[in-house]
Amino acid sequence: MYLDFLKVVVLLSLLFVKGLSRQNSTSAGNVTIGSIFTKTSLNGQVADIAMRAAVDDVNSDPRILGDRTLVLSTSDSNFSGFRGIIGGLRHMATDIVAIIGPQTSEMAHILSHLANELHVPLLSFTALDPTLASLQYPYLIQTAPNDLYQMTAIADMINYFGYKEVAVIYTDDEQSRGSMVALGDRLAERLCRITYKAVLPPELNATIENITEVLVQISRRESRVVVVHAFESVGRMVLKMANSLKMVQNGYVWIATAWLSTVLDSRPSSATPSEVFEGVLTLRPHTPDSAMKTAFFSRWKNLSHGSIGLNPYGLYAYDTVMIIAHAVGEVLRSGGNISFTHNPILSSMRGSLSTLRTFDAGEQLLDNIKNTSMTGLTGQIAFQPDKSMIHPAFDILNVNGAAGYKQIGYWSNYSGLSIVPPEELYDKPANRSSANQQLRSVMWPGNTKVQPRGWVFPNNGRPLRIGIPKRVSYELFVSMDEDTKEISGYCIDVFLAAIKLLPYTAHHVFIPFGDGLKDPNYTQLIDSITTGAIDAAVGDIAIVTKRTKRVDFTQPYIESGLLVVVPIRNQGSGAWAFLQPFTGPMWAVTGAFFVMVGIVIWILEHRINDEFRGPPRQQLITLLWFGFSTMFFAHRENTMSTLGRMILLIWLFVVLIITSSYTASYTSILTLQQIPPSIRGIESLINTDDPIGVQRGSFVRDYLNDELHIPKSRLISLETPEECEDALTSGRVSAIVDERPYMDLFLSNYCKFQAVGQEFTKSGWGFAFPRDSPLAIDMSSAILQLSENGELKRIGDKWLKTQDCSRGNTEGQDELQLISFSGLFLMSGTAGFLALIIYLCKVIVKYNRNNGQATESTTPRNGAARTTPIQRFLSFFDHKEEDLDSRSKRKHSEVIP
Ligand code: GLY
Repeated sequence: MYLDFLKVVVLLSLLFVKGLSRQNSTSAGNVTIGSIFTKTSLNGQVADIAMRAAVDDVNSDPRILGDRTLVLSTSDSNFSGFRGIIGGLRHMATDIVAIIGPQTSEMAHILSHLANELHVPLLSFTALDPTLASLQYPYLIQTAPNDLYQMTAIADMINYFGYKEVAVIYTDDEQSRGSMVALGDRLAERLCRITYKAVLPPELNATIENITEVLVQISRRESRVVVVHAFESVGRMVLKMANSLKMVQNGYVWIATAWLSTVLDSRPSSATPSEVFEGVLTLRPHTPDSAMKTAFFSRWKNLSHGSIGLNPYGLYAYDTVMIIAHAVGEVLRSGGNISFTHNPILSSMRGSLSTLRTFDAGEQLLDNIKNTSMTGLTGQIAFQPDKSMIHPAFDILNVNGAAGYKQIGYWSNYSGLSIVPPEELYDKPANRSSANQQLRSVMWPGNTKVQPRGWVFPNNGRPLRIGIPKRVSYELFVSMDEDTKEISGYCIDVFLAAIKLLPYTAHHVFIPFGDGLKDPNYTQLIDSITTGAIDAAVGDIAIVTKRTKRVDFTQPYIESGLLVVVPIRNQGSGAWAFLQPFTGPMWAVTGAFFVMVGIVIWILEHRINDEFRGPPRQQLITLLWFGFSTMFFAHRENTMSTLGRMILLIWLFVVLIITSSYTASYTSILTLQQIPPSIRGIESLINTDDPIGVQRGSFVRDYLNDELHIPKSRLISLETPEECEDALTSGRVSAIVDERPYMDLFLSNYCKFQAVGQEFTKSGWGFAFPRDSPLAIDMSSAILQLSENGELKRIGDKWLKTQDCSRGNTEGQDELQLISFSGLFLMSGTAGFLALIIYLCKVIVKYNRNNGQATESTTPRNGAARTTPIQRFLSFFDHKEEDLDSRSKRKHSEVIP
């Protein structure tokens, strides 16, 4: 601070060395205030008229300054910072109590050091650089909302309309630079950013060539949202030139800071056709309607003689004079004097500098100013503890028609954007939620109500450089034909289909990344975006957290996630593998049924069928042979009884089911592999010390090491599916961890491996773009469209058809359980049992009949040995039926001759 002050002193020395005679303009009855404005500037003219009117009003009201007369001493800076500083110094040499101005911030930065030392408050309503509000300048008070608020309002508007990127055009001076920093900060808070800063020479030095150059630069860039922050004269040139370059047209969004609203208010009739800035948005400091304000507007015509229209800065000029007058009045009423004493630093210097004096009541005046509480033309006037005005607010205007505008809403620091005046909101709780932000509809450049997208594909003559991984494995995803250099693959087709859906043409070239000998490193591919070597990366690129911190990804176009793939032992290869299809009980019951069926058929057949007769030993063999030969439908013995045929039919059906189930199950066992019990997913894999195969170049290696803390020594980089197969088969690795799309292809080609456990990450593949790239947003919409219209699936079906290994997980699922066949066995057993009962009944009936006849007609003639009934029945049961029948008939004929 002292350094700056000394600089000013040196400057002073140069200027005053020849002697600046002290002009004491503060005579006993006068209170002099100075003003520094460019009198020919729009705000300079308005301010001058308004300040004079205020001075007249003060002097005509003895309640303010009593018998003192307020005198306004003006200085014309004439668009020159140097002149402005000189004017300030002259004022300070004449014992003024305060200065209104300076008009611009660079003057304010210098003069405020002097003001600090001489205790002369500077009150400016046009030097609105936010940095001037800092504690460094205690004697500088901004009596209009400073640009921090205007920039916050613009950031809120940009956010409200959903734009993310903004180009700014501003003059390279302190006023604009500070404001642009504030705008950048405010945009960043809303996740938006300034993508291009077009700087014009300060003050009036900007030429048509300068302006044309920056406009051409803007037209070549992506953002179509342009903020113009400049002096009124330069701002008008910018929009005029933009008009002639057809840039104030469809697709563009122009936001001019308050300079444009002052032009619209103060020089409405000056607009030539080339200065009709249809659709441009601008801001105007908001001053609430009041009777005072209306009266002043009515009075303005007389005051200005119709030379210029009143704008809010005229109201602030009037109020600033009133603020000073009331504060001086307070000083006087509290017994203070308008007196000046020599400054200890300056008085030690030679020449006229020593005549510069410090305002004795300056500190008190400053306090009074800061404690102002009054109602003025601009509404309630008071300052916050940080010296900024209370209730900063802006009107938001939409240029509409020749030099006209429509107000589309308000912005207030209290509630953000609204369509009701801010003063109506101050009584309600502040609500800055996005749902509460509101503006009326806008007529955009090009006379359209359709909101511009705010972004175009950059027309800078350079096609988009799309980096693609030059894969050597899994080439179905992305590959380049070495001969034709043709790029193809699933990911490329998705990209081409998506880019076709963009509402603009995006010329692009593919730039292969990698040496073509091994799969490239995908992290390095992403890094190429951040270094600017490529504009985007397309391919099988996983969306992982680390990458999302450096680039923006589109929506995922395919799901991905990490899988563990392991080989499994073929359980069917053992000597006793054939027993596996059935469980023990199943084998036992099946065997028992074969025997049982043999017995049942024998019982049913042996009395009528010679093939089931013979010596007992032969009958036993026949019985067993018959039963088991049904297993192959190879039984040769005929069945003659109806019951026997019925039982056989049912049994053969059961046998058919059992044998076909056995065949299916055994086939499956012979070809299916089984998970080694130690690796059942990522958890169990982590707990082993086994080597793990990972794809070279993929993020998986880092992920396993960084996130799952698997030592790098366990991670073996593998290149091709063939190498993976070999490594798993030979045991070089116990498992492979890779992304699902790769593994789906791998497993469909190598059926002897399988995935174990769940996917342990959920992610997807997307296309990568630089941070905040609007292209990423548009591509995301296009990918969603592809997904909705089924195109994404069609592309997937075209490239990623996988073969079905027709095998599921083998964990103990292949043995056929008895329960699965119990219905069949029950049916067959019940039928056999019923058949036996029926048969037995029939035999007993026949036996009784035969036995009765024999008892009636035959008695042992010669004492032949008597037999028991059971022996007789068994004998009867053992004999062939027709033998018995014929014997019975014979006996009968013997008895009845
Ligand atoms: N898909 C391989 C990677 O994204 O690293």
